[in-house]
Amino acid sequence: MNSMSMDDKDLIYSLRAELDAHNYKYYVLSAPEISDQEFDEKMHQLIELEQKHPELFDANSPTQRVGSDISKAFTQVKHKYPMLSLGNTYSKEEVQDFYNRVSRALEGEKFEIVCELKFDGTSISLTYENGEFVRAVTRGDGEKGDDVTDNVRTIRTIPLKLKGDYPQSLEMRGEILMPWAVFDELNQEREAEGEPLFANPRNAASGTLKQRNSAEVARRKLDAYLYYVLGEDIPTLSHSDNLAHAKKWGFKISDAYKVCNNVDEVFEFINYWDVERKNLPFATDGIVLKVNSIAQQEQLGLTAKSPRWAIAYKFKAERECTRLNDITYQVGRTGIVTPVANLEPVQLAGTVVKRASLHNADIIESLDLHVGDYVYVEKGGEIIPKIVGVNTEMRNPDAAEKVKFITHCPECGAELVRVEGEAAHRCPNENSCFPQIVGRILHFVSRKAMNITIGNESIELLLKRNLIKDAADLYALKVDDLKDLPLWGEKSANNLINSIKDSLSVPYDRVLYAIGIRTVGASMAKKLAAELKSIDALKAATVEQLVQIDEIGEGIAQQIVSFFADEKNVAFVERLRGYGLQLEAVESNTVVSDKFAGMTIVVSGVFEKYSRDEIKALIEANGGKNATSISKKTSFVVAGENMGPSKLAKCESLGVKIITEAEFDALLN
Ligand code: IVH
Repeated sequence: MNSMSMDDKDLIYSLRAELDAHNYKYYVLSAPEISDQEFDEKMHQLIELEQKHPELFDANSPTQRVGSDISKAFTQVKHKYPMLSLGNTYSKEEVQDFYNRVSRALEGEKFEIVCELKFDGTSISLTYENGEFVRAVTRGDGEKGDDVTDNVRTIRTIPLKLKGDYPQSLEMRGEILMPWAVFDELNQEREAEGEPLFANPRNAASGTLKQRNSAEVARRKLDAYLYYVLGEDIPTLSHSDNLAHAKKWGFKISDAYKVCNNVDEVFEFINYWDVERKNLPFATDGIVLKVNSIAQQEQLGLTAKSPRWAIAYKFKAERECTRLNDITYQVGRTGIVTPVANLEPVQLAGTVVKRASLHNADIIESLDLHVGDYVYVEKGGEIIPKIVGVNTEMRNPDAAEKVKFITHCPECGAELVRVEGEAAHRCPNENSCFPQIVGRILHFVSRKAMNITIGNESIELLLKRNLIKDAADLYALKVDDLKDLPLWGEKSANNLINSIKDSLSVPYDRVLYAIGIRTVGASMAKKLAAELKSIDALKAATVEQLVQIDEIGEGIAQQIVSFFADEKNVAFVERLRGYGLQLEAVESNTVVSDKFAGMTIVVSGVFEKYSRDEIKALIEANGGKNATSISKKTSFVVAGENMGPSKLAKCESLGVKIITEAEFDALLN
């Protein structure tokens, strides 16, 4: 029988409550009380206790916020209360009309209007029973939506257990959004991986919410604001008071709302936020006006699609008219040719716009663009401005020449190809088209790949001087090859060589990503490395075998197989093997002893017997925790060659012990 000590059970419950409270302070209030490290330690302790006591599983435990790799299909759920949409307007007159309409319908009775931000994300309905989060459903068609509970559980600002005096049965409505900073980072990552970019944070939020892999959702750091309380026993008959209650139950409610007593106050709110919203960390696309009294809301009732007691005033996307000077074409690492519109500089939404992306030939065609046209440029929810139309009245029919997509690569002159079913034109000359070669090397050295510190210009210089022909040649470089290059010197040469050397310890999944198989991004490479533990296993896999792996479709499988069918690629991989790159996964994560349990260890420098990542994996496998910076909590530092002087000084001042690789080995064995 499983002899469960009362102590463990109590500890699990108290750790859960404690972590929930810290989570709330950190994410909802932005006022953490403990360090990230202390938080992680408590979380680690809870994870271990829960592993020991599977009978105490709780889907709402703070440990469950990390999501799972298991991909799940969504089931459809009928909404208890239909999810209505709002009437929209872009005009202040119509806001006034709305106000008058409400006033008339209430026959002169006094009323208040609550003004709120219109969050530009994707709407969600959250169900709580007895204070426990039970379900999250998307809007869908308003009657029924997708059950996205597992994904929503990973959003830290959504409480899994309520606090205080909450109703037994509760439905909260709100918006899931992706903050600008997260959106920018995600798109940069996608660009580096050659994946399509999200047009705006709204698309990114809804796309993320529909991910089948909740661990990926957790990684993308969504946020949520709640704005509507529903249920049989809601606390008050005032919308704004209900929001104040919901805040006490632990929900994230924006402070940017105002109870207005007349229409002037409404306009004041609108005007204020039309400017101030640009300083918010997330996208908003308007203001929502709601009658505050729920009794009056009921009196006003609904139309077929939307309530009569609310309306959305939408901010206009900022738009300017400017001249299209010409179109240039950029060639990316995979050979895709992207047209860029070069515009007469124009001030738009706080920045000077000179260029706009045109994406592909179809878009140029549908706009019927002519060189010299006056075009409308808009910056709505997007960060990259786009051309939304042409002012044909300003076109000079004699001079205007219709834009024709180029037929040959602007860099190498090769004839472009357009793969059936794809919007993009591609330069097929992957072996000698310069920007493709540079692009592949840049991808290889990027932070999430081999993390070699070298920039675009240096790569171009090395290629032009014939010092390298591809990324594998980096490993044959010597300080002597570099130190006399213009603007280099011995120091930068040494730095680069060390950085290249360091990259030999980069684990296999990142090497696989660096190699740059089309459609294999960083997370896909991780997945492949976890399933097939070496590059040889991957090379041997057939399409049929690859599609058996979760999330790998026919397309990716084909790309992998055709990559290895190309002799040049195989030769490239073999050269990397010759230079000593990691082409096999290092087994870790399974705890083999608890030798380092409770210890926080810092690994620094370059080692002989192990790679740095191997040492880190060994620490984890023996129950220890890796940290990157030295503090008084550091148990000891494993130091190799080249450990920095500032780290040494820090160890000395804090009295932290330093051990060598050999001593570490002795500890292990
Ligand atoms: S209230 C019946 N409040 O806008 C009223 N909606 O076009 C339900 N939205 O589907 C909605 N911010 O996704 C409300 N403060 C806010 C909102 C908001 C954004 C979204 C929501 C809704 C859409 C309506």
